[in-house]
Amino acid sequence: MRGILLAGGTGTRLRPLTKVTNKHLLPVYKKPMIYYPLETLIKAGIKEILIVTGGEHIGDFFRLLGSGKDWGAHFNYEIQEGNGGTGAALLLAEDFVRDEEFMVILGDNVVCEDVSGFVRDFKKEKEQYQAKIMVAKVPDPQNYGVVTFRGKAIVDIVEKPKNPKSTYVNTGLWMFVPQVFGLLKALKKSPRGEYEITDVLSHYVKQGQLTYSILRSPWTDAGSFDSLYNATVLMRRMEQRR
Ligand code: DAU
Repeated sequence: MRGILLAGGTGTRLRPLTKVTNKHLLPVYKKPMIYYPLETLIKAGIKEILIVTGGEHIGDFFRLLGSGKDWGAHFNYEIQEGNGGTGAALLLAEDFVRDEEFMVILGDNVVCEDVSGFVRDFKKEKEQYQAKIMVAKVPDPQNYGVVTFRGKAIVDIVEKPKNPKSTYVNTGLWMFVPQVFGLLKALKKSPRGEYEITDVLSHYVKQGQLTYSILRSPWTDAGSFDSLYNATVLMRRMEQRR
C-alpha cells in the first residue's frame, strides 16, 4: 500500500509560529512534527510515500527528510500551489496512487498506535466500503469532525459542531480506493473557500460506504496552540514510559 502525507496549508491557527516556516516543521517534543505521521506510515509497512506541501518551504523538507533512505523508505514530493484545501492537495496524488487502495495521513496528526492491523482489515473491507477512517475519543470534540457510527458504518460526520453529538472524532488517518479521485474532481468549494476531503467522506456516509476503526492508544493533532502543547506533553510521557 502507498501512503500520502498532506503537509501543505498556511497554519494560520499557529501564527506567528508559522509566519516564516511550515507548521509541520515545528517541534513536537524532540522531533519536527512531520516525523510522527511519517513514523506511523512506516511502522504500518508503508514505504512508498508522497509528501504534499506548499512550494515556499519545499527546500526545508528536502533537507530534513531527503530521499527516505535513512528511514528505510522512499519519499516522493509534490508541490501544492496555493491553499486549495485538503481535497486539492490529495488530488495531486492521483498519478502516484495508480490502481491500489492507499492511506492518507494529515501532517499534524500524532498517532501512538501501530495501524498495520487496520491496513490489513481494509484489504477485505474495500469489497463493501469505499473508504475507512480511524476515529478517536477526545475531550474536546467540538474542535474536530464529529462522527456517529452504527455497526460497521459511519452514519454521521459533522465538522466542528457547536453541540457535538458524540465524543468520537475523525482523526486525519484515512484509507481510500482510487475511485475517490473521481469524487475529488467533482468537489465544490466549502464555505471556507477550500476543497475538503471531509466533503468526500460525507458523500460516502450518505452512500453507507464509509467504515471506521477506533484508535485505542492516544491520538492528537497539533494544529492549534493547545493541541500542539498537548502533543508535546503526550510525546514526552510516551518516551518516559518507554
Ligand atoms: O486533525 C483531524 C481533523 O483534521 C479532523 O477532525 C477534521 O474532520 C478534518 O477536517 C481536519 O480538520 P482541520 O481543521 O485540522 O484541517 P486543516 O484544514 O487544518 O488541515 C489539516 C492538515 O491538512 C494540515 O496539517 C495540512 C493539510 N493541508 C491543509 C490544507 C488546508 C494541506 O496539505 N493543504 C491544504 O490546502
